[in-house]
Amino acid sequence: MSRIRKGSRVWSGAERLAAAARVMVPNGGDYFTIEPDALFARVAPLEIELGAGRGDFIIARAAAYPERNFLAVELAGTIAQLMAIRAGRAGLDNLRVARMDARPLVNLMLPEASVAAYHIYFPDPWPKERHVKHRLFNPILIAGLKRTLRHAAPLYVATDVAAYAEAIFAALGAAGFVRVDDAAPGAELTGFAMKFRAQGRAVHAGAFHRTGRTS
Ligand SMILES: C[S@@+](CC[C@H](N)C(=O)[O-])C[C@H]1O[C@@H](n2cnc3c(N)ncnc32)[C@H](O)[C@@H]1O
Repeated sequence: MSRIRKGSRVWSGAERLAAAARVMVPNGGDYFTIEPDALFARVAPLEIELGAGRGDFIIARAAAYPERNFLAVELAGTIAQLMAIRAGRAGLDNLRVARMDARPLVNLMLPEASVAAYHIYFPDPWPKERHVKHRLFNPILIAGLKRTLRHAAPLYVATDVAAYAEAIFAALGAAGFVRVDDAAPGAELTGFAMKFRAQGRAVHAGAFHRTGRTS
């Protein structure tokens, strides 16, 4: 109940609603669809963050790269709304927020070779064996990442959970991704990154390129 009250507080006030409306991908009608080119009033390389949380990283990144388009995807309603308010207040024309599950977006909705970079930072680890099925990274999502990435476009990943990092990196390797760097920009800048670094926890990060496509 308190979570519902907290959510309704976030999602109230004319200024907040107006700020969020500037960046929020509309979610009305019978079907939720995403047309990347139609979201922005221009064609530009598209970077996507999956599970963007409060948006600390993607808002800073969109401000730093105005020539690129950015889509922040977040499943949790209240968190997505908070991010949309922050992003709208930042006045960025090149950032949109989608409150949705990242899996159908990547697996079904995005066109092939349409993404110039993915950022996935500190995905929920679901450490219990019976909960592993809830993890974002699974073979279907990885196939979707591979399908939607452009040639030589990076997939950036970071997690503080060593076992999850090992599983993700192995699954990416098995799917034909090559690790090209052990750094990722969001491994320093997301809300969780800053929290974990302050706690002195190790962060496992990597940049990956898909192999096998030349266009
Ligand atoms: C541990 S938090 C990390 C947030 C942010 N990336 C950071 O580093 O600060 C994981 C986030 O992923 C979101 N999330 C979990 N599953 C998701 C999914 N299937 N699609 C989109 N977002 C998801 C959660 O709601 C949460 O905000």
